Amino acid sequence: MTEKDFLPNPYQNWPKEGKVNWKAPSNIALVKYWGKKPNQIPANPSISFTLDACATTTSVHFEQKTNADTFSFGLLFEGKPKPDFKPKIQTFLERIEAYLPFLKKYHFTIETSNSFPHSSGIASSASGMAALALCLMDIEKQLAPQIRDDHFYTKASFLARLGSGSACRSIRGSLVEWGYHEPISGSSDLYGITYPYEVHSVFQKYCDTILLVHKGQKQVSSTVGHQLMHGHPYAENRFQQAHANLDKLRPILANGDVEEFIKIVESEALTLHAMMMASMPYFILMKPDTLEIINKIWAFREATKVPVSFTLDAGANVHMLYPEEYREKALQFIQDELAQHCENGGYIHDQVGQGATKIKS
Ligand code: PMV
Repeated sequence: MTEKDFLPNPYQNWPKEGKVNWKAPSNIALVKYWGKKPNQIPANPSISFTLDACATTTSVHFEQKTNADTFSFGLLFEGKPKPDFKPKIQTFLERIEAYLPFLKKYHFTIETSNSFPHSSGIASSASGMAALALCLMDIEKQLAPQIRDDHFYTKASFLARLGSGSACRSIRGSLVEWGYHEPISGSSDLYGITYPYEVHSVFQKYCDTILLVHKGQKQVSSTVGHQLMHGHPYAENRFQQAHANLDKLRPILANGDVEEFIKIVESEALTLHAMMMASMPYFILMKPDTLEIINKIWAFREATKVPVSFTLDAGANVHMLYPEEYREKALQFIQDELAQHCENGGYIHDQVGQGATKIKS
């Protein structure tokens, strides 16, 4: 599919008003997206677990207006006006207008809330943009009821990508691949696809406990981090490595080889942060407690043979990953040894999930 395939035919219906409501989960990348080309095109393909508990719920009330020259929307975050989110949404609407040409014809009231605490250091842009994209697609479906389900979800992912790259992996579950990779049939730079090959049962219920090491604002945003991959001395090798890791994961995901899975996933996390450290200007998002946790995970795995592992996103928090059958042992380990490295002892349990859901009003 190309961008043109997301331009709609003329709409048949123009409802006066209505309301739609969607819940979209966060996701955690196993092979990381880091570096992009113009228009939110990823420099390399990535794959993620869709999460379940960490999610954004968004409702959009829409009402026809007479002046169709500008975008018009109000925004409530957790019940209160949130002016600092508005510029991001304004940019998002500008980027997607060609694909949803009804946007200037309605006034929107967007109400959004996260299941995870606001200042947890968990990025809400993936789940937030995915939930908003789904609400807007739901409105488009009222204007064009013939839209089929597969197009609905693919276009929602396409739109979410234009809001925040990794958001395109937050529409469906349970493993989503984004970015053109020749051996993966149907893969595209424009949207995420449900991973189309065999996935062993162990990976369908994998657990992710997010250890909240640092809840504050990051020193360097993902947007800046992606930009610093331009002219980065190791960029080309890194992009090739991501392709190679996707290939290596394919038999591992099929046969449930947790040991080999861990090698790739931990290497991906550390490579992501190595790219940050080797950028110019260089930066470090890990904190001393991030490294303490990683070392304790390695020591515990070695001593007990319980296959706990970690990954990181662009921040200091650690995602501890483990098969569901080890849940009790992993939770005991967290309480005994890891919670002390978390800000105010905070962590959130999550697990692989099935993707976004529509909420009946
Ligand atoms: O979607 P962005 O621009 O916030 O970038 C996400 C980058 C990582 O979380 C570090 C990796 C990934 O693939 O999710």
